[in-house]
Amino acid sequence: MAILVTGGAGFIGSNFVLDWLAQSEETLVNLDKLTYAGNLRNLESLQNDPRHVFVHGDIGDTAQVGQLLARHQIRAVLHFAAESHVDRSISGPRAFIQTNVVGTFSLLEAVRAYWQALAPAQQAAFRFLHVSTDEVYGSLEPEAPAFTEAHRYAPNSPYSASKAASDHLVRAYHHTYGLPVLTTHCSNNYGPLHFPEKLIPLMIVNALAGKALPVYGDGQQVRDWLFVNDHCSALRTVLAAGQPGQTYNVGGWNEKPNLEIVQRVCALLDELQPRADGLPYASQISFVADRPGHDRRYAIDARKLSADLGWKPAETFESGIRKTVQWYLDHPQWVQEVQSGAYRDWVQSHYAQAGSAA
Ligand code: NAD
Ligand code: DAU
Repeated sequence: MAILVTGGAGFIGSNFVLDWLAQSEETLVNLDKLTYAGNLRNLESLQNDPRHVFVHGDIGDTAQVGQLLARHQIRAVLHFAAESHVDRSISGPRAFIQTNVVGTFSLLEAVRAYWQALAPAQQAAFRFLHVSTDEVYGSLEPEAPAFTEAHRYAPNSPYSASKAASDHLVRAYHHTYGLPVLTTHCSNNYGPLHFPEKLIPLMIVNALAGKALPVYGDGQQVRDWLFVNDHCSALRTVLAAGQPGQTYNVGGWNEKPNLEIVQRVCALLDELQPRADGLPYASQISFVADRPGHDRRYAIDARKLSADLGWKPAETFESGIRKTVQWYLDHPQWVQEVQSGAYRDWVQSHYAQAGSAA
C-alpha cells in the first residue's frame, strides 16, 4: 500500500512529502509535471530514499495515472497539482483551466476506474483528498465574519474559478459514484521552499537583492496566513479522520494587511541581515498598480477542523515568519537557482532517469 501525491515538487506539495516521510514508513508516489513551479531540488534529501517514488508525469494522463494506482496499490490520493498563481491566471488563464479543471477531471476518472475495481473493504478505506483554497469563497467585507464551510462560492479570478470548478467535480464524484472524497480550503501559506513569485518570498529575495518591493494598490488587502507545516499537519489529520464527502477549512486566525506583512519582513531582515548602508529595507517599498479584480479580504473560520478532528496550528505568525526569513537567508543557492532557472538544468542532469520511474 502507498499514497499518491500529485504536485509534490511544488511549494506545499514538497513540504508535505518531506513532512510525511519524516513520520511514516509508507511509500509515497509523487506525480509531478515539473512546470516552472516544480523544483526537485526541494526533494534533494530524498534522492536515495526508496520510500519516495518520483514520477515525472501529468495528472491529465489518465492511462499513466491508472497504471500508477494499480502498480503501487494506492490507498489514498492527495491532490496538490495545480496552476496556483493568481497573477499568472490573469495574464494567461488557459493553463489554469487545462490543469485545474480538465486535469482534475482526468485524474478523477483514473481514480474512479481504479477505485470501482477494488474489493469492498479497500473501497471503503480509500480516500481522495482534494487540496483546495479559501479563494473559492470570494472576497469579504471588512467586518464580515470569516468564511465557514457553508459560505457560498463566489470565485473572482480565473485561478479561483478554476479551483471552484475542480471542487464541484470532486463533490460530484462523491455524490454520484460514492468516491470517498475530502476537500480542504486553506488560507495563504508561507514558509520554506515558496517560489518567489508569491508575496512573502518575493519580498525577501527582492529586499536582499536591493530591488523594489512592489505592493499592489494601497497594500490594505487582507490575507489570512498559515505556516506551511501547519497546513501539512491539517492534511494528515483530515486524511486520517475526516468524514468522506465533508469539506474542512484550514487557517490559523492570522489576518493581516499586505503592507504590514511587507513591513514585518523588512524589520526581520533589518535585524538578521542589515543593509550595508544602514538604511531600513522598508525604504525599498514601492506602491504599484493594483491587481485587476483584486480580492480585498480573505479570512478562514477553522473551528470545524478543530472541533471535529482536534487540529490546531503549532506556529504563531511571529514564530513562522521568523523561521521563514531565516530559511531564505540560510539558502542563498536555492534562491539563486530558482532566479536563474538553473534548478531546471539540475533536474535534467540529476534526474535524467526520473521519468522512467513511471
Ligand atoms: P505550486 O504552484 O508551488 O506547485 C504546483 C505543483 O504542481 C508544481 O510542482 C507543478 O509542477 C505541479 N503541476 C502543475 N501542473 C501539473 C500537472 N498537470 N500534472 C502534474 N503536476 C502538475 O503550488 P502550491 O502553492 O504548492 O499549491 C499546491 C496546492 O494547494 C494547489 O492546488 C493550490 O491551489 C492549493 N493551495 C495553495 C495555497 C497557497 O497559499 N500556496 C493555499 C491554499 C491552497
Ligand atoms: O488564499 C489562498 C491562496 O493564496 C492560494 O490559493 C494561492 O494559490 C496562493 O497563490 C495565494 O494567493 P494570493 O493571491 O493571496 O497570494 P500572493 O502571494 O500572490 O499575493 C498575496 C497578496 O499580496 C495579494 O493580496 C496580492 C499582494 N501582492 C502580491 C505580489 C506577488 C502584492 O501586493 N505584491 C506582489 O508583488
